[in-house]
Amino acid sequence: MMKIPLGMPVFDKEMEEAAVAALRNERFVLGESVYKFEEEFAKYCGTKYAVSTSSGTEALRIAFIASGIKPGEAAITSPASFIASANAIVHAQMQPLFADIDFETYTMSPKHLKRAISDKTRAVLPVHLYGFPADMDSINLIAEERELVVIEDACQAHGASYHGKKTGNLGAIGCFSFYPSKNMTVCGDGGMLTTNDEEIARQAAKLRDCGRKSQYIHDVIGYTSRLNNVNAAIGRVQLKRLDEWNAKRRAAAEEYNRSLTGVGDLVLPPKGSANVSPVYHLYVLRTKHRDELKSWLESQGISCGVHYVLPIHLQPIYQQLYRFEKDDYPNAEELCKTCLSIPIFPNISREEIKFINEKIHDFFNSK
Ligand SMILES: Cc1ncc(COP(=O)(O)O)c(C=O)c1O
Repeated sequence: MMKIPLGMPVFDKEMEEAAVAALRNERFVLGESVYKFEEEFAKYCGTKYAVSTSSGTEALRIAFIASGIKPGEAAITSPASFIASANAIVHAQMQPLFADIDFETYTMSPKHLKRAISDKTRAVLPVHLYGFPADMDSINLIAEERELVVIEDACQAHGASYHGKKTGNLGAIGCFSFYPSKNMTVCGDGGMLTTNDEEIARQAAKLRDCGRKSQYIHDVIGYTSRLNNVNAAIGRVQLKRLDEWNAKRRAAAEEYNRSLTGVGDLVLPPKGSANVSPVYHLYVLRTKHRDELKSWLESQGISCGVHYVLPIHLQPIYQQLYRFEKDDYPNAEELCKTCLSIPIFPNISREEIKFINEKIHDFFNSK
């Protein structure tokens, strides 16, 4: 039987050689590959600076602290995200707040953002969910009026673009994850923070390296949140392949779109436009038959995912600590009840996509 995974990271000979060369020839921590990877990543995003970290969550936490936000102040993010978006706010000793999503993009609704802002709000963290850029023009406008710092959670959107700019260059700071499931990975945990602000970049570089001003002088309380050198060496090779991989993801998404339009009650993912180019970190369908369709596809050897089973505000720990309740963010709740991620990765074959499409058609034909 055909077995199709949900995603599949690439690790090739060039990455292996880069890793071994870095291990043999460079420092294990903050070696040459780390600085080169940062330089190349900044150039790719079109920002002046990039600072690598040990994970996407750490990039987010450091972004809040480096931009001068104080403990007790609040940040607003999307409830339809991986829990780390909100965890990073809590790690920075801030209060997590949410603004519901728009169904057109599955990202933060500017209208709901406006309503969610309070006197304590200092930052907004839109999430480019599934690789689709949030409505950054509207979010930036609201943030400017209310003097909020805009930090992009671009952990699922490496290489996506919005009105001629790449994600990571659409707010004050952009944060990326290189976890193995992402559009590019360092073959381990890793993250990156991008910015055009020199002072934020300097502060972030200090915070991820024990608050070090010079070798044994520390003028802030920092963290051990550096990206390992060997992972940076792999990341440099991955970055060179990113555009080609994203193009393949888009082509796969188009094939799904062609075959699945109008099938059953399926809602297909938001499409890009001349100005908005998503990168399909995930290809997410919506249907009220989600659980049944998932079981059927899995019985046919097709791996599926649910991103996410619960919106963040209904995660047990967020309900317990912050008293969020059901129906607080109905759109995010509806997304979580109906979403189904089907396989997408750069090297998925046409035969595999055809097989998945056929099985989805079979499911709805038998309804
Ligand atoms: C939207 C989003 N934010 C934050 C993170 C956290 O990244 P990491 O797992 O590298 O800490 C992830 C990924 O895991 C994510 O998908």
